[in-house]
Amino acid sequence: MDRFVIEGGKILKGSVTASGAKNSVLPILAASIMAKGASVIHSVPDLQDVRTMLKILQYLGAKVSFKNGTVEVDPQAVNKNDAPYEFVKTMRASISLLGPMLARSGKAKFSLPGGCIIGPRPIDLHIKGLQKLGVDIKIEDGYVIAETKGKLKGDYIFLGGAFGSSVLATANVMCAAAVAKGTTVIEFAACEPEISDLANFLVKMGARIEGIGSPCLVIKGVKSLRGAEHRVIPDRIETGTFLLAGAITRGCVAVEKCQPIHLGAFLEKMSETGIEICAGKDFIEIKGKNEWKSTDVVTLAYPGFPTDLQAQMMAFLSLADGVSIITEKVFPERFIHVGELNRLGASISLDGSKAIVKGVKNLFGARVMASDLRASAALVLAGLAAEGTTHISRIYHLFRGYHKFEEKLMSLGAEIKREKDTI
Ligand code: EPZ
Repeated sequence: MDRFVIEGGKILKGSVTASGAKNSVLPILAASIMAKGASVIHSVPDLQDVRTMLKILQYLGAKVSFKNGTVEVDPQAVNKNDAPYEFVKTMRASISLLGPMLARSGKAKFSLPGGCIIGPRPIDLHIKGLQKLGVDIKIEDGYVIAETKGKLKGDYIFLGGAFGSSVLATANVMCAAAVAKGTTVIEFAACEPEISDLANFLVKMGARIEGIGSPCLVIKGVKSLRGAEHRVIPDRIETGTFLLAGAITRGCVAVEKCQPIHLGAFLEKMSETGIEICAGKDFIEIKGKNEWKSTDVVTLAYPGFPTDLQAQMMAFLSLADGVSIITEKVFPERFIHVGELNRLGASISLDGSKAIVKGVKNLFGARVMASDLRASAALVLAGLAAEGTTHISRIYHLFRGYHKFEEKLMSLGAEIKREKDTI
């Protein structure tokens, strides 16, 4: 396994370009199997999760190519409708194939996605939504076995759960509803930009969807969908991560070809800490300061502060002047990074779904271990700011969701290198 070795204290300066959004491209690739013909998707980041999704599409029988950021999927030869455990266990997002499979063949057999380090990952809303469209679903031997008796039929579906909306449940139900008989209303739909991106791709395929970007989607089912060409939106989480790399190292970093409009809550929080932000139509520049103020953060579904930036923001606030309270409302157990940040000298304590972050003057290099994708990014940010050397093991988590992560950081002046993990 590889590790990162980071010499902290370097001030990051310069600009990077945002990659395509991982959480858009995964459900869009899944949806491509619903088309009668081939689809072409541009701005696809070369990530492990993308490679996993392409492997699953090939396992199902699709013809797939991936060159220079463009993926072509021809689903005409798809003749399977199951997703075995070995795929689902490596990538929970494979659940986004459930709706498209049912839309394509009326059948799907899926290994239950296990829980993961950020907490239990139930799928009750996926099941509830699909059952409302006429799908028979049972759970047997760790598998979801789903089948439509006859055609999918539209209905009114309230998709809110204990934690509010669900991104991938909205994706699954929207895909199935796109070819259901009649009209489907999805109330309490997720409004994440990645869901709007998927909806826009479905419309290009011939789907009829109104209310895109709102919590109420109205979908008029059509007989069939055609292949389409689509460019994926920029990754707002990657963008926020690099802006925080600039801020935590007291540097000046710009992210180009991003969509500032997708980061309203994050930018609002950053300005509360006193950091200077300049944003244009497709770029954001952060001018770091020697000191910044604490602020309180509550993670919520979009347009609230994104849970996928919580860990990275915590790293930044661990060096703020004052105490910040971070409340995790989406995944209340998503604090695996707290222990490792404290090993780097942070002073963070937990109280249920709240983290109390007492700002310290300095962080100090140490040996830490990455755990999940976003927690790993937080450790890199802390290592960049820490005095001395930080070794981060198990960095494979990072490559699931960040394209050329260390190269982009090095281009900003970070001293970070990848080496074989000896322990
Ligand atoms: C998507 O996961 C993202 N993944 C996650 O990003 C992101 O953190 C999450 O949305 C929230 O924004 C992809 O898009 C591939 P949810 P998803 O269903 O759809 C509860 C990353 O780092 N819930 O919106 O699986 C759930 O437990 C990843 O890129 C139910 O109760 O998340 C959670 O508390 C991590 N029942 C809340 O809803 C359900 O049936 C939101 O989860 C489904 C979810």
